[in-house]
Amino acid sequence: MGISIGVASGKGGVGKTTTVLNIGASLHSLGKSVVLVDANLEAADLSLYLGDISYDKTLFDVLCGGSNISDVFISQQHGLKIVPGPLGILEETGLENLKVHIDSLKENHDFVIVDISPGTGKHVRDSIRACDEIIIVTVPQLPAVTDARKIMELASQERVPIKGLVVNAVGRGKNELSSDDIADFCRAEVIGSIPEDREVCSSVDRLTPVIFMNPKSRAAENFAKISSSIASIPYEKRAGFLGRLNEAIRYIISGKI
Ligand SMILES: Nc1ncnc2c1ncn2[C@@H]1O[C@H](COP(=O)(O)OP(=O)(O)OP(=O)(O)O)[C@@H](O)[C@H]1O
Ligand SMILES: [Mg+2]
Repeated sequence: MGISIGVASGKGGVGKTTTVLNIGASLHSLGKSVVLVDANLEAADLSLYLGDISYDKTLFDVLCGGSNISDVFISQQHGLKIVPGPLGILEETGLENLKVHIDSLKENHDFVIVDISPGTGKHVRDSIRACDEIIIVTVPQLPAVTDARKIMELASQERVPIKGLVVNAVGRGKNELSSDDIADFCRAEVIGSIPEDREVCSSVDRLTPVIFMNPKSRAAENFAKISSSIASIPYEKRAGFLGRLNEAIRYIISGKI
């Protein structure tokens, strides 16, 4: 039986979908079975980050149309599985039914990672309630951190534990809050800090998570550290070209070739 982890933020645009994709990609690289679920039904875009729009059914058909969630999977070229959200405008979302479907995915996946809408409204509450744990993404500025704390409160009201905070886009602005300040203000652990990294923007252009596109980039390494800790697997830094050359030379000198 796997676990479901919701990724929420309160404030929009802080990097939830980027976090879902890259933690998912990284857990997949660690050999875990992972499915990513786009529960941001009013502005679904998870599948668009992968350039995938060739699907007939979405999570909305599961929640409101009686489709089976496992019939809605898209397997992405790198092997990532996603349940896409709808691209149109909705009158209702059916998210109050999300938990039963997420729980069914847990039966045959190690991790179900859920991309949650911004805000603190009913949809967010329904999505939080559907998950076993919540990761809160924020950027290191007060408006975002204040909204992150609202998600802490919401999760506590729903009795869903917080796995920790991810502080994203560090270095983008001036006068940023430190991770320690953010941890104190939210009364939660910072489980990772992702720098502002141009490679993340390039990975969006290339429709590929930065973990796959450039695993040695600073953003990818920090996403990989978070995922190793989630999977309880020691983090191993990927050796760069010089590192690999060095290893090869040592191997030859040791007489194993
Ligand atoms: N660490 C980073 N470095 C550089 N750019 C980033 C970083 N993280 C996210 N971005 C960029 O910021 C933008 C917003 O990211 P993303 O879509 O993941 O936010 P979101 O929280 O999911 O937004 P929404 O609330 O609308 O769902 C994207 O263009 C993404 O490429
Ligand atoms: Mg998003």
